[in-house]
Amino acid sequence: MLVNGQPYRTVWLEGSRVRMINQHLIPHRFEIIDLPTHRDTAQAIKTMIVRGAGAIGAAAGYGMAQVALEAPDDPGFEPYVRQGAQTLRQTRPTAQDLFYAIDRVLAAIEAASSAQAARQAAVAEAQAIADENAAAGEAIGRLGAELIRDGARILTHCNAGWLAFVDWGSALAPVYAAKRQGKDVFVLVDETRPRCQGARLTAWELQGEGVRHAIIADNAAGHFMHRGQVDMVIVGADRIAANGDVANKIGTYEKAVVAQANNVPFYVTAPLSTIDLNCPTGDDIPIEEREADEVLYVTGRTDEGQICRVRLAHEAAQALNPAFDITPARYITAIITQRGILKPEEIASLRSP
Ligand code: MRU
Repeated sequence: MLVNGQPYRTVWLEGSRVRMINQHLIPHRFEIIDLPTHRDTAQAIKTMIVRGAGAIGAAAGYGMAQVALEAPDDPGFEPYVRQGAQTLRQTRPTAQDLFYAIDRVLAAIEAASSAQAARQAAVAEAQAIADENAAAGEAIGRLGAELIRDGARILTHCNAGWLAFVDWGSALAPVYAAKRQGKDVFVLVDETRPRCQGARLTAWELQGEGVRHAIIADNAAGHFMHRGQVDMVIVGADRIAANGDVANKIGTYEKAVVAQANNVPFYVTAPLSTIDLNCPTGDDIPIEEREADEVLYVTGRTDEGQICRVRLAHEAAQALNPAFDITPARYITAIITQRGILKPEEIASLRSP
């Protein structure tokens, strides 16, 4: 995607360094961060400098490539790789793409005949994961755009755009494709407390692509659906269970329930790498609990241009902060993957690429 006329991916590898867009700073500043080691990459995933399931997966894949590049020759190679994979695994528990990428690069390393061959294989596999992620987003966009009519009003939650992927995105990919086909689309952007991925990231992306949009408070979505002002909901996914239940950003579940109550179609978009057939249902998907401070504080820019963090609640306030929730399959109209538009009950018949 273009930023100030220049094409960017969300995350990439340069030599042995991972480089990525610093998502903490958007929309106020656009900066690239440089991560020399796999530990730096793991920390960037954990602290959400990179976030969104697809981008987390690509970053973890590149992190594994860094592990292999850093590892000493035998006999230290194998224990170093094992420890590095463990460090990356422990960053975020819900996004299936993280584990998918780590396991894929690990398998490429294990299949190699020497430490040197393993290093090359790890870099190639990590690059393939990132390229496939970008291609999947493009295909999801092409398929999903067929469901979008000219003049459609689309509600989305969190950020499942190109910042959450390597390129294109999942939920926003059909929007971008429809826009490029000349359709007029309008997006209602849930602000997505507590970290405001909608207000900060989705709105910034849509602005860059020239898509008309308005940010709404999270608790306004039901109002707009009840008034008949939403034609469809499109969201991304962090993990999809075998029965079609979907883990996505906290608040997705209630949007799905309200959508069904108002006969608004509710679409989930995801590449096959997000499907976890080892989780029979959504109840088996681990839900990340994040720091209370994400709820108790907000960060933004003052009118004078200073970025600052302010406290919202009284000094002794406690907060609970589950980062994701589960939307049961019965609320989902269809799941748009790069391989086609599926009913949630068809997920069990798929195998990851
Ligand atoms: O906590 P985040 O910002 O990583 O959560 C992101 C989401 O929930 C997205 O909707 C999801 O990753 C789907 S887009 C790949």
